[in-house]
Amino acid sequence: MVRLWKGLFTFEPVMKRIIIAIDGYSSCGKSTLAKALAKSLHYAYVDTGAMYRAVTLYFLNNNVDINNREAVKDALQHIEIHFERTKTGNHTFLNDVDVENEIRTMRISEMVSPVSTISEVRRFLVAQQQKMGKRKGIVMDGRDIGTVVFPNAELKIFLTADTNIRTQRRFDELASKGQPTDFEAVKRNLLERDMIDSNRADSPLRQADDAILIDNSDLTPSEQLEKVLNMVHEFEMV
Ligand code: DC
Repeated sequence: MVRLWKGLFTFEPVMKRIIIAIDGYSSCGKSTLAKALAKSLHYAYVDTGAMYRAVTLYFLNNNVDINNREAVKDALQHIEIHFERTKTGNHTFLNDVDVENEIRTMRISEMVSPVSTISEVRRFLVAQQQKMGKRKGIVMDGRDIGTVVFPNAELKIFLTADTNIRTQRRFDELASKGQPTDFEAVKRNLLERDMIDSNRADSPLRQADDAILIDNSDLTPSEQLEKVLNMVHEFEMV
């Protein structure tokens, strides 16, 4: 059992801090699981999808032509993304403006996958994500975390769930935020994003060879959390 001891005389155990990579299809509950894990382990949480969404928002607001490599490279130099903990949770800031609600709208969901296929965008964001994980003790969710961002992560989870269940979850989330939409439009968007995300040339969404597959269609958020916490505790005991 590897346990680091905080102080010679207190005998308070300090658990080994690891990197937890969570990947999977759109609206599989990745962020629900990642947030709950980070909270219960006192780890940092990074939602990498929010970073791709923030870049997409910047491109849309500034009419950046995503087919023009030079325009994309130039625009990236003017983008700063960070996260802040607020009363209502972890919020995404784009150039110091809170864009948390705006990046979750269908306008962004419809453009984010094409933007995520651009290698310059990926290199720009992956470098920042790797820096965030330097000190470990982090839960990161996305599409390429276990394969590209942290190929050596100690624990990799690949989440999946039934398409209608995923659609209902995203539909309920949009409705709860006062963004009523149509069930079929949400479903079309999820399937289209899964298709683009899984088939792009640069870092496609795929299950890492050493990732553990969890289908959470019939799991409650707390059952899902308990399952993964048990896996984390196994690492702490190694
Ligand atoms: O997790 P999300 O649905 O908010 O992600 C939005 C999009 O961002 C997703 O459709 C693909 C892209 N993405 C990515 O390419 N790589 C990541 N690590 C995270 C998200």
